[in-house]
Amino acid sequence: MSQPAALSTDSRLLEQGDPLSDGRAFRRCLGQYPTGVSVITAQHGDKRVGMAANSFAAVSLDPALVLWSVRCESSSAATFMAASHFAISVLAADQVEVSQLFGSGHEERFNRVPWTAGAGNAPLIDGAIAHLQCRLVKVYEGGDHWILLGQVEHYARFAGEPLVFAQGQYAVTQNHPQLADNQASQNSPAGDGDGLFTSLLNSATQHMSRLFHAHRQELGVTAASARLVNILALGAASLDAIEHESLLGRGAIEDALNELSKQGLVQSNAGEYALTEAGLLLRQALIARATEFTAQQLAGIPEADLAAAKRVLRKLLSN
Ligand SMILES: Cc1cc2nc3c(=O)[nH]c(=O)nc-3n(C[C@H](O)[C@H](O)[C@H](O)COP(=O)(O)O)c2cc1C
Repeated sequence: MSQPAALSTDSRLLEQGDPLSDGRAFRRCLGQYPTGVSVITAQHGDKRVGMAANSFAAVSLDPALVLWSVRCESSSAATFMAASHFAISVLAADQVEVSQLFGSGHEERFNRVPWTAGAGNAPLIDGAIAHLQCRLVKVYEGGDHWILLGQVEHYARFAGEPLVFAQGQYAVTQNHPQLADNQASQNSPAGDGDGLFTSLLNSATQHMSRLFHAHRQELGVTAASARLVNILALGAASLDAIEHESLLGRGAIEDALNELSKQGLVQSNAGEYALTEAGLLLRQALIARATEFTAQQLAGIPEADLAAAKRVLRKLLSN
């Protein structure tokens, strides 16, 4: 007899359940797995298509096969399946706007970014960190998506850091904090704080951000909601504007807006979102917390040292 699904009782549990009973929660669970971001393109006849995709995955080295999946309802799906080839451009860390452009299905997307034609005329996006020119070999049914399998005919790898998509938001890769800690202590065996400057700087920012997370939680706010509150404090904004400013994916923005609306912190009017009175008060509370937190962290450091540290940081930022 087969075992029924096990319910988690882990104290760190945020949500669990049947994927079909709450699709948004299921998407959040899938978002726990970080991916890169690619733009996948194809050309068939005079129809040129391209979309942001994070479903791309390596399948086989010999033969060289990759796959990705496209939503059946996508206006581009038919062209991708009819074209002989598709091209994958793996986006660099500084290409968030390219991802947003190709994630929106914008009419003008191919006029807004430089590209060159690859195999089967599929566009390769300039500035990407990898290009894969693929011949479409097979299409599989995968529920509400089609899975496209491609044979890589040519690849190119470029210098640069990848753009990452994790937990519904854009991110960049960074050394693991453990590595930064190790480097700092290796460079300072006596623990006298003379570790490699950049390792210390890295460790300190990551440490501060972890500590502040607890303060935000006490105010009942997630990192995503706090980001939206800060953006909306500057004035009412549309979903597109929020997406542009927040570096969050649509799903995470909608989740945060839902949550903030339920709490009476945000209201929408004619397609724009704005903070309510209560939302403005929360923003003030967040600022007060951040100010108090910074003061606590810096307590006991002489003024002259602080001034010197600020000078050093400004100098680094101006380089
Ligand atoms: C980071 C990111 C990853 C995405 N990954 C996929 C994907 O793997 N497959 C897909 O069908 N859509 C994906 N999308 C959504 C499409 O890019 C988007 O639906 C499309 O550009 C809009 O055109 P359409 O209306 O023709 O689907 C992704 C969007 C973003 C921002």
